[in-house]
Amino acid sequence: MSAMNIFILLFVSLVSYPALPVTDKVTSLPEQPPVQFKQHSGYITVNVSHHRNLFYYFVEAEVDPPSNPVVLWLHGGPGCSAVGEAAFSQHGPFLVTSKGLIKNPNSWNTEANMLYLDSPAGVGFSYSENMSDYLFLNDAFADSKTKICLKDVYTNFSLLFLLLLLEMVGKGSPYSDFRTNDFFIAGEGYAGHFAPQLAHLILQTKSEFNPKGIAIGNPLLEFDTDFKGSTDFLWQNGVISESTYEMLNNECSYPTMQKQMRATGDLSTSCAKVNLQMETEIDGDTDAFNILADVCPVPPETRAGVKTNVCIRDDSIAYLNRKDVRKALHAKLIGVKAWSSCSPVLVYDFQNLENSTISLLGTLVKSGVRVLAYSGDQDSVIPFIGTRSLINGLAKDLVLKVTRHHQAWFHGTQVAGWTQVYGDILTFATVRGAGHSTPLAQPERSSEMMKAFWKGKPPSLKDHPFPSKIEKNNVFFYLLVNLCLILSGLYGP
Ligand SMILES: *[C@@H]1O[C@H](CO)[C@@H](O)[C@H](O)[C@H]1NC(C)=O
Ligand SMILES: *[C@@H]1O[C@H](CO)[C@@H](O)[C@H](O)[C@H]1NC(C)=O
Ligand SMILES: *[C@@H]1O[C@H](CO)[C@@H](O)[C@H](O)[C@H]1NC(C)=O
Ligand SMILES: *[C@@H]1O[C@H](CO)[C@@H](O)[C@H](O)[C@H]1NC(C)=O
Repeated sequence: MSAMNIFILLFVSLVSYPALPVTDKVTSLPEQPPVQFKQHSGYITVNVSHHRNLFYYFVEAEVDPPSNPVVLWLHGGPGCSAVGEAAFSQHGPFLVTSKGLIKNPNSWNTEANMLYLDSPAGVGFSYSENMSDYLFLNDAFADSKTKICLKDVYTNFSLLFLLLLLEMVGKGSPYSDFRTNDFFIAGEGYAGHFAPQLAHLILQTKSEFNPKGIAIGNPLLEFDTDFKGSTDFLWQNGVISESTYEMLNNECSYPTMQKQMRATGDLSTSCAKVNLQMETEIDGDTDAFNILADVCPVPPETRAGVKTNVCIRDDSIAYLNRKDVRKALHAKLIGVKAWSSCSPVLVYDFQNLENSTISLLGTLVKSGVRVLAYSGDQDSVIPFIGTRSLINGLAKDLVLKVTRHHQAWFHGTQVAGWTQVYGDILTFATVRGAGHSTPLAQPERSSEMMKAFWKGKPPSLKDHPFPSKIEKNNVFFYLLVNLCLILSGLYGP
């Protein structure tokens, strides 16, 4: 056998054997508490000539990875990092604090294999060595327009899954072992575009990794409806005045303002006037993504250990910019000086924000893919108002029956939100007291809702009888007092 043949043989066996997860295995992250489950992170090359590399972070389920689903998380923006903004800030196994990592008791990997992907290239640790890849990116990257780019991403998604899952179920396991893992795509905000588009593409390619469902949080689905919802939300929550609300309805609507700003970076005279008044009233110290939340900075000593670390973005930026952290994650900084939670280099085609993804959701539902559209009910950026009406409208278009009428769902004894289910396949749910990134303020409620979703169940209903004993007594007491009042009113002096 010639040297060339040996080389080819070696090459083929290297390519066909899942070597990647071994080199991508994360031994331990700086300041990480000890854990039993495996972590992997690194790059998948999606375009060789451009050196376009996507960065992923994969954490196996804490118990029984083979029988738990694989959940791919795509972050929104467009252009924000799934690894930084979701994994280390919201629902990954560790949360960043100013003092390092803490174990996240509400991590979604307790019952799922979580795969966080920084996409497209130019976001988080993902990069391309050809900067032209960053210019005027659009949804077509996740749709049929530029099939080549997309095919790259998709082919390599499949490859990634193949490798990771093979590793997960043990080397030499039959291919069919992981084909049976349920696969979900989830994300928030602009993932209202990315998640259905990717799910649709996967369906079109008829691969093994058919998504069982998609979950989208405070999703951008339909520009005008979603941003009109913002106006109503701000007004109803007392953030803006009657006069501003009137101006938004009569002089320049919020969707119009958004369109002008994104198209030209400028506003017409009348829109500029409304915008100024609106921004002054909202105030820069309001967190638009959760109007109930405090904003960073807060005194550092109160950060660690508080339920909601409102400075988690700053903390994660500091953590992911550490050299030792990058090394442990097998991550590189290419073409940028520092890691950013949202990309400073990506130029996204904002026209694409106006493309509705509602009909795509309909196509998914018709193909049997379960859809959960959920809303942190304190988000003013993409509030529940638009999502609720869009999902209801979609259900009507699809002639889906209401299989669970709008009602409260519960975490423990507390109302965790409200939900309505259509045709046992399309679900709308709110998360009470949560913002745009629901686990930030409501980690328990969010994880309960997601775990139910990938088990094929709607969020849990009340598990205690109503009215309870105490409530019954209260009702009785109330009636008694009223009776006394009525009697005294009727028969008193
Ligand atoms: C997908 O990734 C693999 C491994 O990183 C790479 O060898 C291959 O060329 C990529 N496929 C495409 C179509 O770019
Ligand atoms: C890499 O990307 C460029 C630009 O998107 C494309 O023209 C080229 O065909 C891609 N290369 C491969 C191997 O797919
Ligand atoms: C980057 O990609 C474009 C389009 O494929 C190509 O024309 C250009 O030569 C590339 N630049 C470099 C430096 O490789
Ligand atoms: C988005 O909408 C524009 C028109 O505004 C259209 O040209 C483009 O093809 C659409 N893109 C997708 C991915 O549907």
